Amino acid sequence: MPHTISGFSKLSKSEKIEWLLNTYFTDKDSARALVKQYWNTDDKLQKLHDEFIENTITNYYLPLGVAPNFLINESTYTIPMAIEESSVVAAASKAAKFWLDRGGFKAEVLSTEKIGQVHFIYTGDFDKLETFFKHVKPKLIRDTASMTKSMERRGGGILDIQLRNKSEDLPNYYQLHATFETLDAMGANFINTCLEQFATTFKNEALQFDGFNDEERHISIVMSILSNYVPQCLVRAEVSCKIEDLKGKDIPNPEEFAQKFKQAVNIAEIEPYRAVTHNKGIMNGIDAVVLATGNDFRAVEAGVHAYAAKDGKYSSLTHCSITDDVFKFWIEIPLALGTVGGLTSLHPLVKFSMEMLQKPTAKDLMKIVAVAGLAQNFGALKSLTTTGIQEGHMKMHLMNILNQFEANDTEKGTLVEHFKTNVVTHSAVVEAIKQIRDQESFK
Ligand code: MEV
Repeated sequence: MPHTISGFSKLSKSEKIEWLLNTYFTDKDSARALVKQYWNTDDKLQKLHDEFIENTITNYYLPLGVAPNFLINESTYTIPMAIEESSVVAAASKAAKFWLDRGGFKAEVLSTEKIGQVHFIYTGDFDKLETFFKHVKPKLIRDTASMTKSMERRGGGILDIQLRNKSEDLPNYYQLHATFETLDAMGANFINTCLEQFATTFKNEALQFDGFNDEERHISIVMSILSNYVPQCLVRAEVSCKIEDLKGKDIPNPEEFAQKFKQAVNIAEIEPYRAVTHNKGIMNGIDAVVLATGNDFRAVEAGVHAYAAKDGKYSSLTHCSITDDVFKFWIEIPLALGTVGGLTSLHPLVKFSMEMLQKPTAKDLMKIVAVAGLAQNFGALKSLTTTGIQEGHMKMHLMNILNQFEANDTEKGTLVEHFKTNVVTHSAVVEAIKQIRDQESFK
């Protein structure tokens, strides 16, 4: 029997769950109990979460951790991170502490421009289209006045609209390419509303434009949507210190460390296979903060990776230099983030995170997120070029393995102590649990 249903979204939450249980589960009682176990006991709070999306059946937990001791432009932050990967928060905290004693992070927003496009098909003479565009442009702006009023009052709004001829790449394809300043909002709704109005005005005005013949007059709008590629919404974060100051407990030879670290960055700059993993590590930090602050991590991911390939080859988002005995390590990335609107004013834990970050503006948040990415990359490269990644990673992963084997608190205590001085591997942990349990059963 095919597992399909019509009218699913119209069912109540309980009916949806019952349909799922009856369709897919053998032990329905356990499955039902599990789904309900994750419901919040506060009905109002649960309803809020239910209504974020359609067809909600329960909540899906991710840990919200915090990485303290981030010094960014002379202010200190504790950064919230929502992530499931064991070692990420620990690595961020360690990198924060490392740089706290070495001048901290410097971050600066380079630009804040967002982009949206109306994609359309026009069959006719380009000169006439250009003439029409010049004629209609003031009206495009005028017709969005009611939508842009409040954004303009705060200093934002539409920056420009250009006509772009893409017909060499795709026959008869053109764009209205618009740029926006959306201040503390991520701006997706604002931009999309403006674009849809541009499209309506553009299409209707074309129908009445005297300069067009009958075919040219019928412009076909394909779609109107913001772009998540925001290369003009850029932030840069950096750390630097004298090479000798890199010296520390796990960096006995700072000169060798700096050279090897730089080589690791250089490899990611020229080798896409390495660059993807290198940047994935950066995104461990970035996504975790983006998620904790209620922003759209898919948008950020898409835009950041496009930026990593902007020169025609996928490359590292971070860079490193060694000049006159000074080690410098920096990141430059596009980040379209919001600190107002969307989930930021709805999700109680997002509000909590924002308060913890001292109610940042979107620009402040761009700096914090970029720093989290840089710190994460610093932590990963420091481990990779010294001890190897598995030592720290497996130490953090130990608790997951112990939980898989349902270790009790005493077993956990004993094994955490044991693995402080022994190499953590999956098989070593399994063996150690077995030994403890065998000893217990002989008592
Ligand atoms: C793992 O989540 C991230 C790393 O692979 C990043 C890197 O290799 O730079 C450790």
